[in-house]
Amino acid sequence: MHRRRLKLVSLISLGNPSREVAIGSVPGFANDVRPLFQQVDIDHMNWFCDLSSYDDVKLHAQEILDRLKGHGGPEMPPPPSGGGNGPWSAANITLFQNWINGGYQP
Ligand code: HEM
Repeated sequence: MHRRRLKLVSLISLGNPSREVAIGSVPGFANDVRPLFQQVDIDHMNWFCDLSSYDDVKLHAQEILDRLKGHGGPEMPPPPSGGGNGPWSAANITLFQNWINGGYQP
């Protein structure tokens, strides 16, 4: 009984979560992330950064991710009543997170 339990634990630890990222397609900026920003987003956020620019979005990625989740300030983009088309779906926020985790692929 004791032996069987040990075996189970070792099987579970064989699973390597980072491999899942490598197998699934890693999002890229041009194809996956850039299309999520609408012109209204780019226009209204240019006082902060250029959401159409790979370099700018990479530089501010963590802050942008936080605001997409509504952490550290109002959730971005604002809802239509607030002048935006937000909020993003959970899937799109995860995509942005995966873009960061995947090493900011262009
Ligand atoms: C660190 C990240 C961000 C910060 C600190 C931030 C902050 C702000 C602030 C203070 C405003 C109100 C001022 C204004 O309208 O000019 C605003 C507006 C807006 N933000 Fe952001 N934002 C961030 C990210 C984003 C992102 C990622 C998007 C879109 C994907 C977005 C979309 C918008 C839009 C559409 C408005 C316009 C609302 C209006 O018509 O007044 N923002 N943001």
